Amino acid sequence: MEKIEICLASNNTHKIVELQQMLGDTFLIKTMKDIGCEDDIEEYGTTFEQNSRIKADYIHNLYGLNVIADDSGLEVEALGNRPGVYSARYAGEPTNHQANIEKLLLELDGIENRKARFRTVITLILDNKNYAFEGEVSGKITMELRGDEGFGYDPVFVPDGFEKTFAEMPAALKNQISHRANAITRLLEYLKTKK
Ligand code: IMP
Repeated sequence: MEKIEICLASNNTHKIVELQQMLGDTFLIKTMKDIGCEDDIEEYGTTFEQNSRIKADYIHNLYGLNVIADDSGLEVEALGNRPGVYSARYAGEPTNHQANIEKLLLELDGIENRKARFRTVITLILDNKNYAFEGEVSGKITMELRGDEGFGYDPVFVPDGFEKTFAEMPAALKNQISHRANAITRLLEYLKTKK
């Protein structure tokens, strides 16, 4: 089948690589750089769904392309689901993953409940129509950083059913079980029903 040309509305290199690995068979993916867009899209929404839609609409309105956008973050039960949509800028702007993790571990110091989950909403704009696909993965926050793979909070997140953090796992395994993997599976299943 001919691949569908689509723009990935993200400047996060790690996310781009992850999504390319999951979507490459179905889509011919263009990054924002490929289409000549160097803008930093302001995420002024208060939910993953809103921010994901804001990013997708931005590219679609300016360039008229099919788009995939993801907005994601970490929700920690003992912190009332913070940092949530503010995960990237938890310790301030610009994004500093190391500082975000340090702040998280400090806030959880002495707290026994380490339950957390990554959530994402992926917006697809295809042939001028919008679709939203959610994904999540539950797990626990470790006491210390472990592993060098991945990005963001990966060194402190152990998914349920595993002992290793996302940062200790091969990328291929994370990409089978992550929140983005769940959402992409739903997206690809939906596309199959459209054929
Ligand atoms: P966004 O790019 O505005 O959606 O922000 C996502 C933020 O959530 C990232 O900067 C990370 O802090 C966090 N995050 C989302 N997905 C992951 C993941 O797969 N691993 C680790 N951190 C993630």
